[in-house]
Amino acid sequence: MDEILSIRKDFDSKIENVSVLEKIDLIKSEFLGKKGKLTDLFKKIPNLQGEDRKNFALKLNKAKDHINSLIEKKLNELQGKEIQEKLSSERIDISLPGRPIEFGKIHPVTQVIDEVTAIFGEIGFSVAEGPDLETEFNNFTALNTPEHHPARDMHDTFYLTEDKNILLRTHTSPVQIRTMLSGKPPYQIIAPGRTYRCDSDQTHTPMFHQVEGLHIDKDINMGHLKGVLDYFIKKFFNVDKIKMRFRPSHFPFTEPSAEVDIGYEIKDGEIIIGEGNKWLEILGCGMVHPNVLRNCKVNPSLYQGYAFGMGIDRLAMLKYGINDLRSFFESDIRWLSHFGFNPLDIPASYRGFGK
Ligand code: DAH
Repeated sequence: MDEILSIRKDFDSKIENVSVLEKIDLIKSEFLGKKGKLTDLFKKIPNLQGEDRKNFALKLNKAKDHINSLIEKKLNELQGKEIQEKLSSERIDISLPGRPIEFGKIHPVTQVIDEVTAIFGEIGFSVAEGPDLETEFNNFTALNTPEHHPARDMHDTFYLTEDKNILLRTHTSPVQIRTMLSGKPPYQIIAPGRTYRCDSDQTHTPMFHQVEGLHIDKDINMGHLKGVLDYFIKKFFNVDKIKMRFRPSHFPFTEPSAEVDIGYEIKDGEIIIGEGNKWLEILGCGMVHPNVLRNCKVNPSLYQGYAFGMGIDRLAMLKYGINDLRSFFESDIRWLSHFGFNPLDIPASYRGFGK
């Protein structure tokens, strides 16, 4: 058999049987490499003459083209196979049905803090914060409540050091002191946060929440206090009319001081705010005592203003019909999914406040 033909046959059967990519290179060099079988035949061309030389070279070149094109074909075939195998081994089954996501709920206390913040925020109050651990000075002394003042005993304070210098704040009022000591008047802030007293029953828990308000400027009077509270209560309880009364009271840090009651009645077992002949106390307030201003380096003959403090948990109970305060702090997921709020419903005037 002619030499070229037998090399071609040899090549054909080898390339036919190859099944891994790496072997293709070996076959290529066996035939077309420097010492390859076909390459060797090319070396014979110079020894031939005339037609023989021409025919031989022609056949050789055809054989070379044949080998190159089969190698190319095999290469494509094996590469394609490799990609297919990879794709099918890395396949992801996207036909599984979706599983519903359960959103967490916003706790009613957080919700009410957000509502209060949004309402006061829209009329010029910014939010101030202070730590839960306070000094005796900020919590009492600077608020015009000196040692042995009876108001100190009424607070059932958790003291953290034997010298009674560090305590868990009994109210948010020390944030007034921090605010005034850290900047210049005017001040217009609210300060929501946790407060602590050693007390526990259906309407008291050792940890509870308050929001403080403070507005100090050159011409602030009790009329402003009344206007702001009236505005707040209407917005918060979503009512057009509100019955509100200021009852004279006493706090060491305000003069005069008042407690504010709102009118309500019970209809079909539900509490209706703003109507009726019953009164509900909701906050303490007054004009900031000149001693407090002096303790904070604010000149009382130039600046004056009002302050107020409200219990947030109580507001949440009233607005959302929750009747045991202790349930707020039990972390019962069933309770929370019933009384909690959608995290995407952020309170704002244009959207309405709460349910
Ligand atoms: N700090 C008082 C309390 O916890 C509440 C209070 C009353 C705050 C009058 C005030 C205020 O700012 O002016 O009972």
